[in-house]
Amino acid sequence: MSDPLPESSAPYESRRSSASSAGLAFLRSWLREPRRVGALAPSSRALARLICSEIDPAQTPVLELGPGTGVFTEALLARGLAPSQLILVESCERFAGRLRRCHPQMRVLQIDAARLAGHPALAGVRAGAAVSGLPLRAMQTAAVESIVAATFGCMTAQASLYQFTYGLRCPVPKTILRRHGLSARAIGRVWGNLPPATVYRIGPNRSVAS
Ligand SMILES: C[S@@+](CC[C@H](N)C(=O)[O-])C[C@H]1O[C@@H](n2cnc3c(N)ncnc32)[C@H](O)[C@@H]1O
Repeated sequence: MSDPLPESSAPYESRRSSASSAGLAFLRSWLREPRRVGALAPSSRALARLICSEIDPAQTPVLELGPGTGVFTEALLARGLAPSQLILVESCERFAGRLRRCHPQMRVLQIDAARLAGHPALAGVRAGAAVSGLPLRAMQTAAVESIVAATFGCMTAQASLYQFTYGLRCPVPKTILRRHGLSARAIGRVWGNLPPATVYRIGPNRSVAS
């Protein structure tokens, strides 16, 4: 199982025990809802670093969809983002509770990301980026459409959504991208992740190709 923590100055033993407790939480959730969790192991530190690599504090607030054990959340903190500037959307009660305990300053919304549109916690929010660990390939097209619409609806005009996939193409169908004036571009692949994963930057047509 991959080590779910980013590089950190925390003592080795404490990092190991936090990593194994995250791994255990992940396995328990997977046993309950394999389709919703969408992976057998938490994302690796290398994948977390890649998916957060283009995000910096100037883009806050930042939205994170499907944070699970919080591997990407930790990588965002490691890039200097303030905890109060992160909004986490996680449908699983176990993961949401764990995230609230680990990061009391963050806004953790325990809801289905497909029902994000119009949520009061997002009123007036203009996020500068979004990161997603959602298993989009396992979702209905209508749910993916709602997630894309709600995410881009609460971000600035230039903002991008960073999404990883174990598949061979972007998990947001082209029809949805076109309808929302978006393009997707692969920014890298992590062979050492279990399984190997590709990260896509999805954003307004004019900004993604840069
Ligand atoms: C691949 S896993 C987590 C990935 C995360 N990077 C990690 O390593 O822990 C996907 C996460 O998305 C959450 N999720 C799945 N469907 C969701 C939905 N419709 N709304 C919000 N969260 C969802 C799952 O509960 C799970 O935490």
